[in-house]
Amino acid sequence: MKPITILAIDTSADETSAAITHGSTVLANVVASQVELHKPYGGVFPTVAKQAHKENIDRVIALAVKRAFSAGESNPWTHIDAIAVTQGPGLAPALEVGITRAKQLATEHHKPLYAVNHIEAHALSSVVQAKSKRAADNAPLLEDLPATFPTLALVVSGGHTEFILVRNIGEYQRLGHTIDDAAGECLDKVGRMIDLGYPAGPAIEQFAKLGDENTFNFPLPMTSSGDYNLSYSGLKTFARNLIADLKESKSLNKQTTYDLAASLQYGVFRHITHKLEKILKDFPDIPEVWLGGGVAANAELRKTLRSTLAKESGRRKKLGMQSDANSLKPLMLKTPYSKKLCGDNAAMIGVTAFLRSQYGNQKPIANFEKLDRKPRWGVGIYRSTS
Ligand code: KG4
Ligand code: ZN
Repeated sequence: MKPITILAIDTSADETSAAITHGSTVLANVVASQVELHKPYGGVFPTVAKQAHKENIDRVIALAVKRAFSAGESNPWTHIDAIAVTQGPGLAPALEVGITRAKQLATEHHKPLYAVNHIEAHALSSVVQAKSKRAADNAPLLEDLPATFPTLALVVSGGHTEFILVRNIGEYQRLGHTIDDAAGECLDKVGRMIDLGYPAGPAIEQFAKLGDENTFNFPLPMTSSGDYNLSYSGLKTFARNLIADLKESKSLNKQTTYDLAASLQYGVFRHITHKLEKILKDFPDIPEVWLGGGVAANAELRKTLRSTLAKESGRRKKLGMQSDANSLKPLMLKTPYSKKLCGDNAAMIGVTAFLRSQYGNQKPIANFEKLDRKPRWGVGIYRSTS
C-alpha cells in the first residue's frame, strides 16, 4: 500500500477547511470558522456561508500548503498526488464553492480528483493519525484496520446522528438515524431558547458541569420502536414547555439554567446510549465504536459511551458470547485525536479519500468537469455508497 499525499477541501457548512494528508496522517489541517457571521441568524445561513467560503478558500488552501511543506519548497505540487473534496451532504451553495475550486486545481495541476461523503469522513475520523505519531516519510498504513471489521461508527453532529455498521472501508450499512433533529441540533435549539448563543453545544457542556442532571426528567424517546432510530423533537418540545414554565414562575435563575443544561445533556446522551446498548446486544461481534462529529468533542458523551461499552463488555464476558479468545477484549471507544477533528475539517476528507482508494477500490472521478453537489447524500442506506 502506497501512502499518497492529498490536498483536501471541505465547504459543506460553516467552516472553510483545507488539509494536506499523507496516507492516514495529517500534515496540515486549516479550519476557518464562520461562526461569528452566522450568530445573528442562530444557525447557518446558506448564502452568507457561500460568500464567506468564496472569500476564504484560497487563503485557507495556501495556508495548508505552507504548513505542510518546508519553507524552501519551490513547488509543493510535485508532492501532491491527488485532490479530494466533499461532494455532500451539506448546504448546496456552500458545497459548490469547494467543488468548483477542487475542479479548477485538479485541471490546472493535472491531478486526479476524489469525491468524498462528509458523513463517511466523520465516521472514519477516529482512525486519522497525527503527524507527530508517525514520521510522514514512512507512515505505515492501517495494517491492522481490516482486523476490526465489522465495527460500528457513531456520528453525532449538528446535522446527523447515525449508527453506521462498517463492514469494510466503503461498505456501510446505516443501522439507525435520527428521524427529525440531530443531537447537536437539539442542544443548539434549546441553547438558543436560554440565550446561549450559536452553536450552543460547547456552552451546554460547560453549564452542565455546574448543574444537577437529575433536576429535570427529560423523556427517553422511542423506547418501544423496536429499531435503532432516534428522535429529538420530543426533548426539544419538553424543553420549550419547561423553559416557559420556569420563566413564568420567575425561577429561571443561574443555578436552574445550569441544572437545565445538565438535565438536557443527560437526556440527549441517554437516548444515544439506550439505542447503542440495543445494537451491541444484537451485533455481538462488534469490537469497537468509532465516534465522530462535532458533539464527539463533549467529554461527558465520551464518558457515558465508555461506561455503556464497559457494561456491555461485562455482559458479553459473563455470557461467554464471543467465539474466539481475541474477541474477549473489552469493547473500545475510538475517538478523534483532537477536537478539531471532531468538527468539520478537511483532514478527515483527505484520509477518507485515501482509505477508499486503498481499501475500498474507489477510483478518482473520471469526468470530473461534470461533478456536482449531493446535498442529501446518505451513507450506507444501500450497501455501497459509490
Ligand atoms: O460536525 P459539526 O462541526 O458540524 C456538522 O456537520 O453538523 O458539528 C457541530 C455540532 C453543533 O451542533 C455543536 O453545538 C456541537 O457540534 N458541538 C458540541 C460540542 N462541540 C460542538 N456539542 C456538545 N458539546 C460540545 N463540546
Ligand atoms: Zn460535519
